[in-house]
Amino acid sequence: MNEVSASAPKKRMLSGIKPSGDLTLGSYLGAIRNWKGREEEFECFYFMADLHTITVRQNPADLRRRSLEQLAQYIACGLDPEKNVLFFQSHVHQHAELGWVLNCYAMFGELSRMTQFKDKSAKNADNINGGLFTYPALMAADILLYQADLVPVGDDQKQHVELTRDIAKRFNGIYGDVFKMPEPYIPKVGARIMSLVNPEAKMSKSEDEDPGRVTLMDKPEDIMRLFKRAVTDSESCVRFDTENKKGISNLMSIYSAATGLSLEQIENDFVGKGYGDFKKAVGESVVELLRPIREEATRLLADKAYLQKVCAEGAQKASYVAEKTLRKVYKKVGFVAR
Ligand code: TRP
Repeated sequence: MNEVSASAPKKRMLSGIKPSGDLTLGSYLGAIRNWKGREEEFECFYFMADLHTITVRQNPADLRRRSLEQLAQYIACGLDPEKNVLFFQSHVHQHAELGWVLNCYAMFGELSRMTQFKDKSAKNADNINGGLFTYPALMAADILLYQADLVPVGDDQKQHVELTRDIAKRFNGIYGDVFKMPEPYIPKVGARIMSLVNPEAKMSKSEDEDPGRVTLMDKPEDIMRLFKRAVTDSESCVRFDTENKKGISNLMSIYSAATGLSLEQIENDFVGKGYGDFKKAVGESVVELLRPIREEATRLLADKAYLQKVCAEGAQKASYVAEKTLRKVYKKVGFVAR
């Protein structure tokens, strides 16, 4: 390491997941697994985006349970709370405050063009509320509050990170350098785990939307059953082809991510074998991959005092950083100092 980088402060990495459903194998392979172990290089902030969930109607008791579960699962997946800042978005009031300000710097036209808004308003035609529309301004606040350098997100969130950059650029253009320009970071490996029953669609956190999802808390027998039922094709050949063999390719990606085997090795190992054998092998690899996570999450969930302590400390650390940015923003736009 040269002297400059040794003395330079660490860059920041930040990401969040909405506790709007149960975390899945897709959440782990596509997101959380890529977040962990970055503490050497980055200062890492990972949160439960609970404010974002209520753009769609939630059952309060379920939301509370899933939010706590998500915290336990973050830790069980390997995000060490001593080395990463883990917190609930709703515990850090600066998110809502900067979110409001940025609403005033996000244009109606820009927000109207967001694919997620269009999709979600089609799906929730009876509840197209203002929050659903201004969601990306809150997400921009999440990111810009921490002056994040890198934002690991799935493909579907790239547009929101780009809008965040546009908002930051607009704000900086008026007031000077207030916000750091964030970069989306889309991991190549395991970026997109698809539903086991519909390999055209990303694995969803909600069971209604995706009966082919594997959650982090699923028991081994449930996991085996889900893989047994996974949609494949009629060719009966384990070959990676995302055009014509979406189901098998998805299973191969999962198997590769779970075992570390290359796609080529997998193809070789299953020459002449049927899909039944292959699905069983994939299922077993996932059972072993998720077993320690489920066990540790279950153990942590029994220790509410510990979880409480982790999220209180996380919120305090997050709030310290967030407040600095918020204060600067309030001053720049012309609010009287408190
Ligand atoms: N919108 C993201 C999603 O639906 C969740 C999210 C909210 C997020 N705020 C964020 C992700 C900030 C990254 C950074 O998945």
